[in-house]
This record gives sequence, structure tokens and C-alpha cells, in this order.
Amino acid sequence: MIFLFILAISAMAEEPREPEDKSADIYRSYCVSCHGENVEKIPLNPESTAEQRIVAVSLGVSSMPPYNWMLGDEEVKRVIKFMEQLQANGRIEDPQAP
Ligand code: HEC
Repeated sequence: MIFLFILAISAMAEEPREPEDKSADIYRSYCVSCHGENVEKIPLNPESTAEQRIVAVSLGVSSMPPYNWMLGDEEVKRVIKFMEQLQANGRIEDPQAP
């Protein structure tokens, strides 16, 4: 019994997992004021590339401040993906839902 418990703990500790996706929280905390609940206020530009979006979030663009001091590269990509889905599908309650 105890052995199983220890096994479970060590399995949890070792399993290389994706860090929890905080995109929805990040977006609602830092981005929603300008971009809007459903990315309707400042929508993504359909012509911009993935690279341009990453640069915009990391280094800022026009009146938007840079976020590279706060978000890692993976977080930047995830929050952009979240925005793309939000803009395409409307409100998403759980970004991890299938
Ligand atoms: C102070 C207002 C403001 C805040 C806060 C803000 N943005 Fe922006 N964002 C802008 C403006 C202005 C643009 C440029 C729009 C344009 O070029 O027409 C922009 C552009 C972008 C673009 C590029 C869009 C494209 O398709 O090229 C992305 C991606 C983006 N923002 C994501 C975010 C994310 C993620 C956050 C929060 C971490 C955020 N923004 C916070 C104002 C803001």
C-alpha cells in the first residue's frame, strides 16, 4: 500500500508534463482590456504570419507593450493559439477541452 503510494508520487514527479496551459488566465488578465472578450476590439490581422504574431506579443507593436519579460516563448505561442481559437470560435470556457 505504502509502496504503491510512493510509486504514484514518484511517477507524478518524474512524468515530463506540459506546464499547465495558463493562456486563458493570461489573456483575461493582460490582453482582454485592449483586444476584447472575444478578440473583437483589436482582432488578429488575417494577413499576419505566426512569426509576426510572436514578435508582436514578445516585443510589442504600435501601442501594445512587449510581454517577453513576462511570458516565455512557449507561453507566447500558446496564448496566440488561444486568441486564434477565441476569435474563430467565440468564447472558450476551457481551452484544454477537446
Ligand atoms: C495597450 C493595448 C494592448 C494590450 C494590453 C495588448 N495588445 Fe495586442 N495589440 C494591440 C495593438 C494596438 C496591436 C496592433 C494592431 C494592429 O497592428 O492593427 C496589437 C497586436 C497584437 C497581435 C498581432 C496581431 C496580428 O495578427 O498581427 C497579437 C498576436 C497580440 N496583439 C496579442 C496580444 C496579447 C497576447 C496580449 C496580452 C499578453 C496583448 N496583445 C495585449 C494592443 C494591445
